[in-house]
Amino acid sequence: MSDARQIDAPPNLTWQLDAVGRARREAIAGHRGAVVWLTGLSGAGKSTIARGVDAILAERGARSFVLDSENVRHGLSRDLGFSLDDRVEHIRRVTEVAKLFADAATILFVAAISPYRWMRRRARDVIGHDFLEIHVATPLEVCEAQDPRGLYRRARSGEIADFTGVSAPYEEPVDAELVLHPENESVEESVAKVIDFLDSFNILRPPLA
Ligand SMILES: Nc1ncnc2c1ncn2[C@@H]1O[C@H](COP(=O)(O)OP(=O)(O)OP(=O)(O)O)[C@@H](O)[C@H]1O
Ligand SMILES: [Mg+2]
Repeated sequence: MSDARQIDAPPNLTWQLDAVGRARREAIAGHRGAVVWLTGLSGAGKSTIARGVDAILAERGARSFVLDSENVRHGLSRDLGFSLDDRVEHIRRVTEVAKLFADAATILFVAAISPYRWMRRRARDVIGHDFLEIHVATPLEVCEAQDPRGLYRRARSGEIADFTGVSAPYEEPVDAELVLHPENESVEESVAKVIDFLDSFNILRPPLA
């Protein structure tokens, strides 16, 4: 990993090595570092599920965090909107930040619509084997019927442009490691499925030395 970054270094720059090292960080944390990427339509339940899993992991003493796309847009991506170019740059920033969290042995939940397959593919390529994708597959009709923030209504009336599912595309994942159907279950059930999923990928224990 560090070697790849060394090879990729921009001119006159050298990747600075982590003095502690990933393996030791994971041993201290008691679990692996990972990026759990939740994709789905607006209102599908990405943030709700990510927060629910994060709360349970925190109770267990794990190092976890939610990198919510919406919060990143409050700061780091404040200069970006929802045009294709801006979405690409936003997801690039989210991806690079997420990778650092995994290096720090954190279980990071990314909640981001990230509507294009190639966009998520790029994130998977950059983050590598730490990347796990969850499709929060609530159907558009359900998201639109609930519409707690009135965003779909405003998108339909043309007040909001480039709105995913209405006036901008959403490409469903073909290679997600887990697909959730929140429309058929409680938040607690979705959260429990993610915990089981993390267990099945051995994320919740340190790797064998
Ligand atoms: N099983 C479930 N899992 C998650 N959310 C659920 C479930 N059942 C109902 N909900 C409700 O669906 C809504 C999901 O909203 P949430 O803000 O989490 O979506 P989001 O995917 O983060 O959307 P956005 O991309 O706009 O941020 C919440 O009001 C939540 O209570
Ligand atoms: Mg959200």
